[in-house]
Amino acid sequence: MSNSSLFSTFQLGTLELRNRTVMAPLTRSRATPDGVPTELMEIYYAQRAGAGLIISEGVVVSPQGVAYPRVPGLYNDEQIAAWRRVTGAVHGQGGKIFAQLWHVGRQSHSSVQPDGLPPFAPSPVRIEGYQYYRKPDRLPYETPRQLSREGIRKVIEQYAQAAARAVDAGFDGVEIHAANGYLIDQFLNSGSNQRWDEYGGSPANRARFLHELLDAVGTRVPPSLVGVRLSPSSTWMDAFDEDKTALHSHVVASLNRHGLAYLHLVEPEIAGSITADVAADAVPTEKLAALFHGPVIVTGEHNLASAQQRIEDGVADLVGFGRTFIANPDLPERLRTGAPLNPPEKRTFYAGGAEGYITYPSLTEGARWAELRSAIEAGTLSAEDLLAELSARNPVELARSGGLHSLHQLRELVTSQTTASRT
Ligand SMILES: Cc1cc2nc3c(=O)[nH]c(=O)nc-3n(C[C@H](O)[C@H](O)[C@H](O)COP(=O)(O)O)c2cc1C
Repeated sequence: MSNSSLFSTFQLGTLELRNRTVMAPLTRSRATPDGVPTELMEIYYAQRAGAGLIISEGVVVSPQGVAYPRVPGLYNDEQIAAWRRVTGAVHGQGGKIFAQLWHVGRQSHSSVQPDGLPPFAPSPVRIEGYQYYRKPDRLPYETPRQLSREGIRKVIEQYAQAAARAVDAGFDGVEIHAANGYLIDQFLNSGSNQRWDEYGGSPANRARFLHELLDAVGTRVPPSLVGVRLSPSSTWMDAFDEDKTALHSHVVASLNRHGLAYLHLVEPEIAGSITADVAADAVPTEKLAALFHGPVIVTGEHNLASAQQRIEDGVADLVGFGRTFIANPDLPERLRTGAPLNPPEKRTFYAGGAEGYITYPSLTEGARWAELRSAIEAGTLSAEDLLAELSARNPVELARSGGLHSLHQLRELVTSQTTASRT
């Protein structure tokens, strides 16, 4: 294996990463309604600790920064204590984890704002062409409240505090979510930023919020432990700019002054969380990566061959995987050995609960279930007895010992046998 393989180690500042695969940030809605990480999350992240680096799901910096239910936060002590268990579980498996710091800006809704008023954004420009989804309703987005200068200072301070709490909670660093049409991206794009003050107008002015935020975060956490995520080509959630290439060339080049841990670029094939057509004015990842002087992560629609190519071409140092990491807790091992991949199930992405979250099998769990299944088919093991035995165990403990997948499969098997015997 050459030095530049996806499976070689990588020195990210002071952190040695065990390989160059990154678990991309993935919102999974498994925290408590108050934004406190749960035991399920501890298991989920520990299962995926084979990544060189895990970037957590978006973690909101304040109650105003949230759009969806059961998203975790980093704005109070209870959340810090719970995150400590998650980061401890990842470190226990030899993994590394950054917290992705998030504020959704105008993608929020008055129904989830603490004061019941429309959310905050750079300008009072609402999102067109998309709807706010809150089960079971689809609602029009609202015209947001414009952040005052004082409001901007407050939000920046919330990011800085959240970064300090992230380190306190045991994270190895933080990623600033400046992608996908959320608050920072709303400042960057001219469509959502129509301010006349020093935060609006030229690309340099629109990037001021991001730079001031990075300066503030940098006073609490060493900049060498801070990454930035951008989605330069995405127009998802009405992220419009008349010249994305000029804007992002400026942003990326100007990020060099911070001495960041890395730049994380979403590939042009991605619109938020799905694959989409590449726009005619997409900004080539190669072009932006070349402007950045530190490590680069690229994410979007990658498989082993394309990831390896990005590294060999010198475009990226690390490659992120989103949906494939949801479905394959031991993704790096599967890629390295050429093992087949489990397909992701969209139905359970945000569904809550263990299913489709911690029930995807690792290779060893898959093999164990295959053995049990053969024994059941050979008649040497009773499916009903085994089901009764596994069902009696605590599901979280069962997940820890790697048996939850078998329980899940067993339930489906027994249900299908029962249905078959009835028909
Ligand atoms: C269920 C789901 C949740 C996501 N949540 C986030 C998030 O919290 N923060 C973020 O920056 N991107 C998020 N994304 C985007 C992914 O990080 C990634 O960019 C995208 O899935 C493309 O990578 P892939 O083709 O490897 O899946 C999410 C994607 C999915 C599928």
